[in-house]
Amino acid sequence: MPNKDLNNPIKYLGNELDYIKKVLQSESWSATGGNWNQELEKAFARKIGTRFGVALNSGTSTLHAAIEAAGVKPGDEVISPTITVMMDTTATLHANAVPVYVDVDPETFTISPKDLERKITSKTKVIITVGIYGLSPDMDPIMKLAKKHDIVVIEDNAQCFMNTYKGRIAGTIGHMSSYSFENTKHISCGEGGIILTDNEKYAEMVRKVGGHGFKNLKAEEGRIRLNADIFQNPDYKRHDELGWNYRLNEFSAAIALAQLERGEELVNMRIKSARLFIDVMADTDYLIPQKVPEGYTNSYYTLGVLYKGEESIGVSWSEFRKAYVEAGGDGIYGAWSVPYLEPMMTERKYVKRCPWVYEKIYYEPGLCPAAEHIQKQLMQFKTNYRDMKLAEMKADILRKVIKKFS
Ligand SMILES: Cc1ncc(COP(=O)(O)O)c(C=O)c1O
Repeated sequence: MPNKDLNNPIKYLGNELDYIKKVLQSESWSATGGNWNQELEKAFARKIGTRFGVALNSGTSTLHAAIEAAGVKPGDEVISPTITVMMDTTATLHANAVPVYVDVDPETFTISPKDLERKITSKTKVIITVGIYGLSPDMDPIMKLAKKHDIVVIEDNAQCFMNTYKGRIAGTIGHMSSYSFENTKHISCGEGGIILTDNEKYAEMVRKVGGHGFKNLKAEEGRIRLNADIFQNPDYKRHDELGWNYRLNEFSAAIALAQLERGEELVNMRIKSARLFIDVMADTDYLIPQKVPEGYTNSYYTLGVLYKGEESIGVSWSEFRKAYVEAGGDGIYGAWSVPYLEPMMTERKYVKRCPWVYEKIYYEPGLCPAAEHIQKQLMQFKTNYRDMKLAEMKADILRKVIKKFS
């Protein structure tokens, strides 16, 4: 039975409360006038190692803004992998672009460069690479293909923080990189996100797409009301781009900044937790952790595992999960459906957005066989323990469950 004295200590052990108080006492609670978004953007970009950061209100609005900033037009193709969440697809559809799905490597669960090469056409404008469960894909061949075909690469790092690929920090390899600050993420403020890039034009455009298209938004400047004499003049024309309101409020920015200050600590706890579970799994031939190739590090948003217990010990995915939960373990998440088999896609709800683009676009089961196969086997084990004793206790419960089935 779980020890009732142990629990998951609250996340907000740093400067969060102090910063929120400062926002409350300040003039502006919006990014249009306050300084907290600015601080967060500068600190996040500095931490990862890019020139610009543009904070927005989710890791989906960042993806949409980045796709728009890349110059995608209706009918252009945006490639994304198939072991991922729906939001790479929705962001693509919000730009009236066509999602093109690429299969995954069955061991790393990340986008397959070989299948990617097959799927590139003259209409491909963007490749979204997803760092799944905290691990980046094989970026070198992807960047080579992107260069050859003049394609913009957006790293979707919603599930990554400070993991590395061949010595480079994830987020510094693609042309733009997108992060989420949703509740479960390494750095969290409930909801939020940020785009990182070295490209000034992309940064400015992301800001405009996310900020009502105000013309005085710049790559490094999200505040639009700095010069009241100009801004309040009735002759002033404000908008030179079509934008949405994707701005991050100052409270959320302040919390994300406080979380970022403890970024290393937060990611290290996930890595330590994952290692505890990986050690336990080494005693089995049916719990196979996500492969971390030589030269990569994983930031373990969750611990992704292939479950082969049906064949090996005659225990189904659901039976194993039930046994672990009943013994006091935390709920194991399955992988999300491959995006093109979600009802929104099979029922073609996207067609009405832009019928002339989507009329003849259909997606069928079997499109990405490796992803469809492993999706049913994947298990995600929780790693965001803030008390290592609790993580050890859960890993021990897993050990006992494995023993029971052996
Ligand atoms: C890989 C990936 N991309 C994008 C998103 C979307 O982020 P948000 O929930 O902040 O919109 C998520 C969040 O769940 C994610 O895991």
